[in-house]
Amino acid sequence: MQIVVLGGSGYVGRAVQEALLMRGHHLKVIARHGLRDPNIQFVSGDVRDMDLMSPFDGADAIINLVGIIEEHPAQKITFELMHVEVVRRIISAMSAAHVYRLVHMSALGTRPGARSRYHKTKWIAEDLIRHTSGLQYTIIRPSLLFGGGAPFFKMLQSQAKWPITPIPGSGNTEFDPVYRTDVGRFVAMAAECDETIGETFEIGGPDRFTLNALYQKAAASAGKNRITPWHISYRFMMNMAKIGESLPGFPVSVDQLLMLGENNTTNDHRWTKWVTPTRLKPSLIP
Ligand SMILES: NC(=O)c1ccc[n+]([C@@H]2O[C@H](COP(=O)([O-])OP(=O)(O)OC[C@H]3O[C@@H](n4cnc5c(N)ncnc54)[C@H](OP(=O)(O)O)[C@@H]3O)[C@@H](O)[C@H]2O)c1
Repeated sequence: MQIVVLGGSGYVGRAVQEALLMRGHHLKVIARHGLRDPNIQFVSGDVRDMDLMSPFDGADAIINLVGIIEEHPAQKITFELMHVEVVRRIISAMSAAHVYRLVHMSALGTRPGARSRYHKTKWIAEDLIRHTSGLQYTIIRPSLLFGGGAPFFKMLQSQAKWPITPIPGSGNTEFDPVYRTDVGRFVAMAAECDETIGETFEIGGPDRFTLNALYQKAAASAGKNRITPWHISYRFMMNMAKIGESLPGFPVSVDQLLMLGENNTTNDHRWTKWVTPTRLKPSLIP
């Protein structure tokens, strides 16, 4: 198949590329920064304003991986723009190019009435795809990803090395971390499998961990037996984040704290029909 991957050069995108190439597909990747791979046709552009119809022309399927975890309003990088308006542009370009198959990357925790703006805007995008696009879609909502240099686990690993490790709240919120390679394989499979059309899959790994346990795993991966946790109240961290998030380099945003404060788990195991999920072990962190 001829497949166009928007955001195919990122952390998830690299695993998706690998899985698609393994399955013998022809790839076109759209992103702003260069990608040097003779097996992939790279189209440089900014999805906020580039012409999408031309690169979509002749494609059998589009995979959308573009998403952000924090906003930079001064650079016109907002959840509304990147998660909602970009999806509107994709839907309209697909319709103009007569391409009808879309695999869209959302995130676990996306739901009506979500607290974070990340999840709220992911929900609006899902809603657009499901109810107004007329496309043959598959929506995928992974929990936290690990493996392949996961930015979140890198952060846990570096904080776990500190003499005292600051942890938001009790650290008892739960996650179903899922292996990046497995997510890449599932996305690639979904693009060619009609059985996934019209479905929204939540995907998580085989084991559930609290945030405290993830810090312990991250410490073990850094060769440290145990951490000394310092549990900081969410209210205090939220106030700090409200003041600090407009400063460059501030480590956490209000939105990220809202997400860390809620469970990110699923009982949807349908995806394991196609992919056997890998267990999280320290050697796979980050
Ligand atoms: N990582 C996780 O644990 C996780 C968990 C759940 C869901 N997700 C979702 O998975 C998707 C991929 O996440 P990721 O972690 O791979 O993110 P990432 O590493 O930041 O990759 C984002 C990709 O989008 C491209 N991109 C960003 N802004 C763009 C723009 N204006 N124009 C064109 N391309 C642009 C980036 O390339 P350039 O910067 O070169 O443009 C890159 O290829 C997102 O939708 C995210 O919400 C991720």
